[in-house]
Amino acid sequence: MAHQAWNKSSWQNFPVVQQPNWPDREAYQEALAELATLPPLVFAGEIRELKRQLAMAAEGKAFLLQGGDCAEDFARCTAPAVRELLKVILQMTVILGYAGGKPVVKVGRMAGQYAKPRSSDTEMVNGVELSSYRGDMVNGIDPTPEARRPEPQRMLKGYHLACATMNILRAFTRGGYAALDRVHAWNNEFVKRSPQGQMYERVARGIDQAINFMRVVGLDTDNIPQLQQASFFTSHEALLLGYEEALTRQDSTTGGWYDCSAHMVWIGERTRQVDGAHVEFCRGILNPVGVKIGPNYEVDNVQRLVTALNPGREPGRLTLITRFGAGKIEKFLPGLIRAVKETGVPVVWSCDPMHGNTYTSETGLKTRNFAEILNEIRAFFEIHWSEGTVPGGVHFEMTGDDVTECTGGGRDIKDSELRLNYQTNCDPRLNAEQSLELAFQIAEMIRG
Ligand code: PEP
Ligand code: CO
Repeated sequence: MAHQAWNKSSWQNFPVVQQPNWPDREAYQEALAELATLPPLVFAGEIRELKRQLAMAAEGKAFLLQGGDCAEDFARCTAPAVRELLKVILQMTVILGYAGGKPVVKVGRMAGQYAKPRSSDTEMVNGVELSSYRGDMVNGIDPTPEARRPEPQRMLKGYHLACATMNILRAFTRGGYAALDRVHAWNNEFVKRSPQGQMYERVARGIDQAINFMRVVGLDTDNIPQLQQASFFTSHEALLLGYEEALTRQDSTTGGWYDCSAHMVWIGERTRQVDGAHVEFCRGILNPVGVKIGPNYEVDNVQRLVTALNPGREPGRLTLITRFGAGKIEKFLPGLIRAVKETGVPVVWSCDPMHGNTYTSETGLKTRNFAEILNEIRAFFEIHWSEGTVPGGVHFEMTGDDVTECTGGGRDIKDSELRLNYQTNCDPRLNAEQSLELAFQIAEMIRG
């Protein structure tokens, strides 16, 4: 079907994949109607500010750091969990900014990352076939038929928990916690002892000295907003289109339509069909939009995709998040870059080194290896340099907790150690130490 006039419901005329099969349609419509009356989670002005910062990343004047859980967990919507993840993101920001020398655009996979696409509708657990877990906004992770039943009220719960997460994020980032004279306080006890934690302490001391120097020369550092607050944005995969539509609102000052469920949303690898509902929905909202792209792209298709999503060639509007895997990036990224260049559509190039590097370890747990993750990032930088494009950002699945989900890294987590603290509801995440280690490596790459 050709793209014609857009409205927030026009996606309903297009084929839609990866939607739950809600057993109770009436309850589903009621939940959406209620969501449509509830206040927006973010505001148009904030969304425009993120777009402005992403436009800088597209040109190489800033660097995008996007990260958080694969799937947020309703049960872990707590102040400590949000704070610990925010701390690591702030630490990485300091490392990338101080050692890498570029402002960092900070975007959490947070405050609404509650819905998951799945490769298969069902899975076998102990010989029983169950509907797949599709994220806490759809069904429960427990391996029982009752828990796996899609329950529309979960969308409302997800909205309220996203709201609570947003609220505490605003408090942490604006209420003094993210002030740069607190850099030492962001270093976790369990990280402090590690080599990465100690390298971080050295960076933090450098920042202390710089701030102290500003005071010495007479600047009132308590009243410089850039030192006292962090700008922090939220994002999630725009998967459940009914939910996204219900939170899409018209901005009273400009008349434009914004998806106010998050500052940025992205389209996943499984839902980026040019003639599909997800692309139709996202092409009309004015938020920055991301698209995941893996090895099975077709040149012609990608060209139509980027043109459909960014017809006005607006910098900062579109971020392409490539996720090929360390073994495939050299084969697939150059062709993608050339295809996009031909269209003249500006994009932020971001590297997701997680989703192409997933494997099942001997213990049966899904994992990713630190060295592979780093290899994909390094290849990403090198390929962009040689193609004359800008490696503009990274996209991580990570947590502030001391988990053992990805192998390798400074502590060299082994396959056999994954069970020590494997917590994720979905894909394996980098722990705080592994995240800092990557930040140091990336800072060097940014410096070129
Ligand atoms: C994800 O980001 O969790 C995800 C499902 O990624 P992709 O769409 O790239 O597979
Ligand atoms: Co994932």
